[in-house]
Amino acid sequence: MMKRRLIGAIAVGCAAVFATFTAAGPVLAQEDASKGIEEYRKMMAEDPFANPGLLFVDSGEALWTEKRGPKNVSLEGCDLGKGPGVLDGAFAELPRYFKDADKVMDVESRILWCMEKLQGIDTKPIIKGAFSKRGEGGSEMEFLASFVGSKSNGMPMKSQLSHPKEKEAYAIGEALFYMRAGPHDFSCQTCHGTKGTRIRLQELPDLAEPTEDARKTVATWPAYRVSQERVRTMQHRMADCYRQMRMPKVGYGSDAVTALITFLAKQADGGEIQVPALKR
Ligand code: HEC
Repeated sequence: MMKRRLIGAIAVGCAAVFATFTAAGPVLAQEDASKGIEEYRKMMAEDPFANPGLLFVDSGEALWTEKRGPKNVSLEGCDLGKGPGVLDGAFAELPRYFKDADKVMDVESRILWCMEKLQGIDTKPIIKGAFSKRGEGGSEMEFLASFVGSKSNGMPMKSQLSHPKEKEAYAIGEALFYMRAGPHDFSCQTCHGTKGTRIRLQELPDLAEPTEDARKTVATWPAYRVSQERVRTMQHRMADCYRQMRMPKVGYGSDAVTALITFLAKQADGGEIQVPALKR
């Protein structure tokens, strides 16, 4: 019953979003596309069980509490920064410095760390499959990041910049944001440095300043991408923008990507967390 309703909602949502792409000129289509997503969001708000991202949250919760790995323990003892086992509000304060690992970690690299240290799991195959492919219905990392993120819903993002390594990660992230490279000589700022710009049909958020734009976009990842029919995480977002820049592949959970996310978290400080949000 719920499934049918869900599929119906997605179908209507997609039709509303994509049917407009063929009509009129690009500007009109852009406005229509935004309106389509807006309508879809409204429908979701009226029927909270219809956000397909919630299925990722549920799968994440099941994975979180399942005893797994050579050590046969669950992830429930994982310290996400507020003490072992504390989930509420932990995501809102990530990325942060972790003494046990002696580095700054975002939600995804921290979950990987807990899998390895707590459960004794070899994370190489998990990293390899971190971004699910069409038809797979989601990856472990997509499930877990959605679940952990959802435990901070409604709370403001609290950028952590007191530890020297957090300050360092922010500085590296800022430098990476402005670093021009690749065959097109793009930096993140090239596409995300001004308000109200877009590429083809996509609006580009201004992420260079701590704006409402930045708060609204950053505090809403992981997100359910309607166009991709699954949840995508912030690590995926970074990898995908680097791909658009024609840069070499970035490492999943790497320090460089974590540094970028640390920078973005500062730009979005105070933004209300709503994950997994619905995005194009
Ligand atoms: C060539 C232009 C381009 C560059 C350069 C670029 N991006 Fe993007 N970015 C996009 C587009 C287009 C989207 C929207 C994607 C979509 O809707 O499919 C996007 C989306 C995003 C989002 C999500 C916005 C939302 O609505 O939630 C974030 C965050 C982001 N980019 C960060 C970055 C960072 C950090 C860099 C540098 C590593 C970067 N981008 C480089 C084009 C670019």
